[in-house]
Amino acid sequence: MRAILFTLVALLAGPAFAQDAAPAGDIKNGEKHFLSDGCYQCHGIGGNGAAATGPKLSRTALPYDAFLNQLRKPASEMAPYEAAIVPDKVAADIYAYLKSLPASPAAKDLPLLMGMGVK
Ligand code: HEC
Repeated sequence: MRAILFTLVALLAGPAFAQDAAPAGDIKNGEKHFLSDGCYQCHGIGGNGAAATGPKLSRTALPYDAFLNQLRKPASEMAPYEAAIVPDKVAADIYAYLKSLPASPAAKDLPLLMGMGVK
């Protein structure tokens, strides 16, 4: 009886605890791997994204589980990154790096666009 109760509690409480449980990551190491593992080649330096190659990742709103799932089983065209290439620990570091990035400036504050009537 006790075992059944424990299992029930664990089953009911499990998902609540699992919510967005991003492991602590090493931001510096994440930045290093974002570059050395080639993420930047499609997602841009600083994860700013490029319409033709990969979406913006800077300050990603994806929960960690969804982020890791995209690496292992990409939604569409992105090549998969197996754990032998990007271990879970490194994935967590890259996630921490992306989360740590500053917000993008408004279009009107971009020097290149200043004076071009961008609001
Ligand atoms: C060859 C180009 C390419 C490379 C290299 C690449 N990606 Fe992607 N990535 C994409 C494309 C294209 C998508 C859009 C979805 C898809 O095709 O699966 C994407 C989607 C994503 C998403 C989902 C974004 C969202 O908001 O839905 C994440 C997270 C992501 N990539 C992380 C990474 C990381 C981390 C790396 C490096 C380890 C990486 N990608 C390397 C092309 C790439």
